[in-house]
Amino acid sequence: MNVLVTGGAGYVGSHCVRRLVQAGHSVTVYDNLCAGHRAAIPEGVQFIHADLADLDTLSKALSQGFEAVMHFAAFLDVGESVREPLKYYKNNVANTIGLLDVMRHCDIKRFVFSSTCATYGEPKEFPITESMPQAPINPYGHTKLAMEWALADCAKAWGLGACALRYFNASGAAADGSIGEDHDPEIHLIPVVLQVALEQRPQVSIFGKDYPTPDGTCVRDYIHVEDLAEAHLLALQNIHPGVFDAFNVGTGIGTSVRQLIESAREVTDREIPATDAPRRPGDPPTLLADPTKIKSQLGWRPKYTDIGSILETAWQWHRTHPNGYPK
Ligand code: UFG
Repeated sequence: MNVLVTGGAGYVGSHCVRRLVQAGHSVTVYDNLCAGHRAAIPEGVQFIHADLADLDTLSKALSQGFEAVMHFAAFLDVGESVREPLKYYKNNVANTIGLLDVMRHCDIKRFVFSSTCATYGEPKEFPITESMPQAPINPYGHTKLAMEWALADCAKAWGLGACALRYFNASGAAADGSIGEDHDPEIHLIPVVLQVALEQRPQVSIFGKDYPTPDGTCVRDYIHVEDLAEAHLLALQNIHPGVFDAFNVGTGIGTSVRQLIESAREVTDREIPATDAPRRPGDPPTLLADPTKIKSQLGWRPKYTDIGSILETAWQWHRTHPNGYPK
């Protein structure tokens, strides 16, 4: 297929671009590089350096005969979304609606959407299935859920085929060490822990030690970015016109903040000082996927099911790229 990938220079997007190319698809990346990196896009992939809000450029790009769009371009800092909700509604909602409108005019009816477990808010039961209530607790989650609703409505109204993948915690790096995670500022636990291992930070703060979890720290379901990429490929191949569907993408295995730090100490053979800190606002105690639906309907299987092997790939990336991509 001829696929346009928005945000294809970002962390998850770039791993998906590589997987699509490997599978023989023709890929064009559309990215404004506000968070992505030119060096993360494989050579030979067409690159359009533009903003989604630039509807002229977007319309010209999409009239090149695409059969599908994968949409990664979005803001993802939960704390920032609380402070600046309109920034999130503008990019994650208004710009995505603009994209869908252009797709409709160009008669492109396949759409893979980056959604999130943050749309579940603070679930009462675990593991989380797709049919459980979606009740986000922050603007970031609201924007992603709003788009899931819009996609379901567009599927009914004009035959859009759309698949929302609800990521749990994207993690790790390409097995060959060539691409990985590089956010500025870095807020996610694994890169922060590995920056401590590299002595780029003095310590990692453990946000909250009194959660109702086995060791009192938050439990997350870390999903390797290459397994996420595989889920996108399968989703693309299984989209049906007029149908909206959503899948959890997680392993179903929980790791607490303390367990993750301990595992990182083993993988890196570094001390990694950690201190207790207050809870971070907006963090649910536990997020754990039930991946049964994506396994049974799309035949997806994660290759990485233990946190140690995920951390090894992340460590390989951070060790060899201590300052991320060339700036
Ligand atoms: N954490 C720390 N110290 C840190 C950083 C994180 O203790 O320095 C803790 C957090 O409090 C949380 C866990 O580590 O309990 C994981 O935090 P991350 O920031 O790595 O990831 P999140 O769980 O916050 O990820 C959430 C959702 C994703 C969503 C993402 C957007 O689970 O679906 O926010 O940034 F995409």
